Amino acid sequence: MAEDKKTFYITTPIYYPSADLHIGHTYCTVMADAIARYKRAKGFDVRFQTGTDEHGQKIQQVAEKNGVTPIQYVDDVVGRIRKLWDTMEISYDDFVRTTEPRHMERVQAEFEYMEKKGDIYLGEYEGLYCTPCESFWTETQAVGGLCPDCGRPVEKVKEEAYFFRLSKYQDRVLELLEDPDFLYPEARRNEMINFVKQGLEDLCISRIDFDWGIPVPGNPKHVIYVWLDALSNYATTLGYPDKPNELSKYWPCDIHLVGKEIVRFHSIIWPAMLMSLDMPLPKHVLGHGWILLEGGKMSKSRGNVVDPVKLINRYGVDAVKYFLLREYAFGQDGLYTNEVMLNRLNYDLANDLGNLVSRTVAMIEKYDGGVVPAPAGVEGPDADLREMGMSTEERVDEYMNRFQFNNALEEIWKFIRRTNKYIDETSPWILAKDPELKGRLDTVMFNLAESIRIISVLIHPFIHNTSEKIREQLGIADQPVVWADTKRFDMMAGVQVHKGEPIFPRLDIEKEIKELEAITEEQKRQAMAKAAHDAGKPVAADKSNNEPEASEAGKPAITIDDFDKIDLRVGKILSCKKHPNADKLLISQVQIGGEVRQIISGVAASHTPEEMEGQSVVVVANLKPRKLRGETSHGMILFADNEGRHEFVTPHAPDGNVVK
Ligand code: MSP
Repeated sequence: MAEDKKTFYITTPIYYPSADLHIGHTYCTVMADAIARYKRAKGFDVRFQTGTDEHGQKIQQVAEKNGVTPIQYVDDVVGRIRKLWDTMEISYDDFVRTTEPRHMERVQAEFEYMEKKGDIYLGEYEGLYCTPCESFWTETQAVGGLCPDCGRPVEKVKEEAYFFRLSKYQDRVLELLEDPDFLYPEARRNEMINFVKQGLEDLCISRIDFDWGIPVPGNPKHVIYVWLDALSNYATTLGYPDKPNELSKYWPCDIHLVGKEIVRFHSIIWPAMLMSLDMPLPKHVLGHGWILLEGGKMSKSRGNVVDPVKLINRYGVDAVKYFLLREYAFGQDGLYTNEVMLNRLNYDLANDLGNLVSRTVAMIEKYDGGVVPAPAGVEGPDADLREMGMSTEERVDEYMNRFQFNNALEEIWKFIRRTNKYIDETSPWILAKDPELKGRLDTVMFNLAESIRIISVLIHPFIHNTSEKIREQLGIADQPVVWADTKRFDMMAGVQVHKGEPIFPRLDIEKEIKELEAITEEQKRQAMAKAAHDAGKPVAADKSNNEPEASEAGKPAITIDDFDKIDLRVGKILSCKKHPNADKLLISQVQIGGEVRQIISGVAASHTPEEMEGQSVVVVANLKPRKLRGETSHGMILFADNEGRHEFVTPHAPDGNVVK
């Protein structure tokens, strides 16, 4: 009965729906899916949870920039994220959205519990904040004013805020991290131990600068810090705190699978929160590495991302899953190139696996009318093949217990290659010429069919569609995939096989590379067009430091008449000061011919007011006036976006001149 089964609970991070997900996010979910499917195959009652982290300043900003409400914005992106997971046949049991009442109400209950316990107090936060990462930093941590996690500029924040007594839990957190079984891999564990040893300060856990979040109970001008909100998802969906029985079925969680840059939140802050809540702690946190491109980290706004949907449409779900699991060593960063990916597909899937299946099924059809014969004894390489077939599972298990997917798959592929070699060693086409050797030929056909059956079970947690296609050709599609059957070598005699399409077509690598490159170029072009389009919006400049990653395609082509509607003028900045209510904004008085205009620009992260003064600039002069944080801005100064830094675009002409 299900109740008697051992349970296993695994989670992915909940993704920010600020933009469509790329191959890096897909990597994490595919690994979690493989673990979940593997554990199910091993008889566990698995709960696999994923979802979206929908609150916070970053989402609010990106929604504003797109001219929609935050919920409209996230509804749209979340729809596409769910579609991606459905296309990839990700076997999640629950998809949580942090905007759901079931989550929000429980986060408030959690806040109240911690507050009652004396672990939350009201104070004033003065420090730095990285909006893209939604994380607080001190001056010493954010060297050069840049976020230590993502390298983007941080901003100063000074506001009334609630704090969580993280410092109180420092010793217990350290003790937890010193358990070698809690956080994996080792390098991350040492990093976290050092971080905690430097001293944990109390954590700011509310914001008042924006309202897109869960209101603090009893003081709704504050919203709960998005990481406190997000981390709680792992327990709120199980019914914490009002449904203790449901909760205890799967809690404590077995594995939180997360990327390396958010290990700190999962191995320090989340356990401390749970300590405060008097809840059992998760058993393991696994920190995986990043998939990098030749130019570094993927960035949607620069158009250098690998879109999983494009790869899936071209090569299929299993090809993408196989590549991600096989290519990268868990815990380390790895480089993505089209060539590496295509070679994997050709060599491992089309050649090794695909050929083995089609050759074998074709031979059984040719020599035995499509019915797998019974074996007639054991000789030559048979024993070795059988032994390897029935023991591969143990080696796969060993690697899976250490989350080494690449090695687990390599063990399966060693057996696939061994089986291919068996065909060469036994040369069935020669045996088939001599009727006296029919018994030997039967044994060879039977051994091949058995080996492929075992392979179909072993690959099932990783690439289940391929497994099912193979089982169809083997004539066993209607039989359940039973993990224990990897230990048997007696199931195929008398089964009718059916030749089908090749399970993976061989690819013309050069041609594919060219086509993939063309897709990437188009993507970059669209991203640049979009960046140009965004820079044309007055609010965009405020936000561009945060590089909110919007998802829609680039700006459509315009006619000369459209362009003529814009009145571009040379302006001269006479004076400039900081905006009293917004750290990122500067207010300039700009001379444009006979007129002086007040124009607000979101460039304080790139320039001081002194640097602005005296500059000649290009101004969009006929932009309708608007209020930005209480101050009127009439016009817009143009800057060139140099990877987030606003560079001056300097005209060498007197102010008032038309730019055309
Ligand atoms: N919303 C937070 C997580 C909250 S969990 C309580 C968040 N979201 S995220 O969308 O920015 O990132 C989600 C995950 O995607 C992270 O684990 C991150 O490491 C992973 N990846 C994003 N880019 C990646 C690569 N290029 N490669 C591998 N994983 C990467 O952080």
